[in-house]
Amino acid sequence: MRNFFNQLFRNIRKIFSGYNLLWHFLAGTDRIMRGNKIWLKEGLSEKNFPLILKWFRESEVVQYFSFAKRALALKNIDELKILLKEIETGPVFEIYCKDTFIGYTSLSSIREKSECEFTIFILDKNYWGKGVSGEATVLTLSYAFDELEMSKVTLDTSEFHQRAIKFYEKAGFRRARLISKDRTIFHDGKWILSGTVVMEMTREEFKRV
Ligand SMILES: CC(C)(COP(=O)(O)OP(=O)(O)OC[C@H]1O[C@@H](n2cnc3c(N)ncnc32)[C@H](O)[C@@H]1OP(=O)(O)O)[C@@H](O)C(=O)NCCC(=O)NCCS
Repeated sequence: MRNFFNQLFRNIRKIFSGYNLLWHFLAGTDRIMRGNKIWLKEGLSEKNFPLILKWFRESEVVQYFSFAKRALALKNIDELKILLKEIETGPVFEIYCKDTFIGYTSLSSIREKSECEFTIFILDKNYWGKGVSGEATVLTLSYAFDELEMSKVTLDTSEFHQRAIKFYEKAGFRRARLISKDRTIFHDGKWILSGTVVMEMTREEFKRV
């Protein structure tokens, strides 16, 4: 009976997770996943929006994002929430190092039992290159493959974002294709057109990593 309700609850979450960020703000706040250096908490807390806004306005942080221009032009938290609602269409996980909020991961564009898109934003630059991204990625992918039962997770990034590409390859993603000139990024102090590298990992590949 308990298994039946667990499965039912999972299915309901799966249906909602593809469409409604509000579900995760409100109902998704109970899930906590722990690594050694960091822990993840599902949902975005109201108290962290001012920090996300501050970081989204830092060119060094958002320079390669497909929505870099919009992020840098954000005026207030209401505008930030509108942007987040557009880009984050599935579960979002705040990343904490001890008690410090440093960024978030997310799974979006969920297609039932099939694919979803992974994003990781370590928004506090002090935590780049500290090994926290690997743990946050593994925990989020475990959720995608084991809980949401996805068969493939994809991601995209700018072809100029060498740090991210190297990191994703280390994490087990492989390059799938390049979409040429489809995002505007802020590279070397100027706005330029960049291609998008699409990367992916299947459930079998994740289990092998
Ligand atoms: C991209 C991101 C997740 C990577 O996490 P990280 O903890 O900084 O990554 P790591 O240090 O573990 O790995 C990055 C690798 O790239 C290397 N690297 C760093 N800067 C580099 C550069 N300019 N060119 C090439 N390689 C670079 C590092 O040396 C490291 O390789 P190594 O382990 O062989 O030494 C993190 O920096 C981040 O969230 N940045 C801001 C948001 C963002 O851009 N997210 C990705 C959106 S697609």
